[in-house]
Amino acid sequence: MRYIENTQFINKRGYMVQSQVIARDIKNPDLIDAMLRVPRHMFVPEKYMEYAYNDRPLPIGYDQTISQPYIVALMTDILNLKKGDKVLEIGTGSGYQAAILYEMGCNVYTVEIIEPLGMKARKILELLGYDKINCKISNGYQGWKEYAPFDKIIVTAAPPIIPKPLIDQLVSGGKMIMPVENEHQELKLIMKTKEELIIKNIAPVMFVPMTGEAQIGE
Ligand SMILES: C[S@@+](CC[C@H](N)C(=O)[O-])C[C@H]1O[C@@H](n2cnc3c(N)ncnc32)[C@H](O)[C@@H]1O
Repeated sequence: MRYIENTQFINKRGYMVQSQVIARDIKNPDLIDAMLRVPRHMFVPEKYMEYAYNDRPLPIGYDQTISQPYIVALMTDILNLKKGDKVLEIGTGSGYQAAILYEMGCNVYTVEIIEPLGMKARKILELLGYDKINCKISNGYQGWKEYAPFDKIIVTAAPPIIPKPLIDQLVSGGKMIMPVENEHQELKLIMKTKEELIIKNIAPVMFVPMTGEAQIGE
């Protein structure tokens, strides 16, 4: 089936990018182009399509959400992506973030723990022509060892600590962005050098918790 876009959604998307992304000082032209291209409404349940370009997260079933557009933009921007970067995403969810990464020229590997969500995301990504995105149903706490190391890692569910397997699977010089939940949730940027990990707090956020092993910790 070929996907043909309705102009009403193209207009809403343009407004979303202008008022929620550019107006909040995100100016990376590749990211802006990616957000203008990816049809976000196709990644939400039909009953929420008309709200897909609003300034908020939306339910996608199984108690999970597609993140607010600005948060997707912020996390993507901070990674300072280069074309050809190998990027691991933990928490495929709807598949929207993976499509944005792909549109930015990255080789994308994405892992989802809830099987029906991962299957649905894969289906919609294929329908939209994003069939080169590598999808896996698994516990993302463990990363994706066969394809490691990754230049960048983006985690869209909050573990209580930074998972060691993800640190190990990041290249030296790589960057990882993730929410971490201690007493409160904080979006953290983790930069790995040969000698150390540099961790920077970016903003307080509210993501769904990372499930599976992450609940138990190490
Ligand atoms: C905020 S949603 C993801 C939003 C997603 N990036 C998108 O663009 O729609 C977080 C996702 O992380 C998934 N998740 C939670 N714990 C996980 C784990 N241990 N491994 C992989 N995925 C996990 C959830 O099932 C959920 O789909």
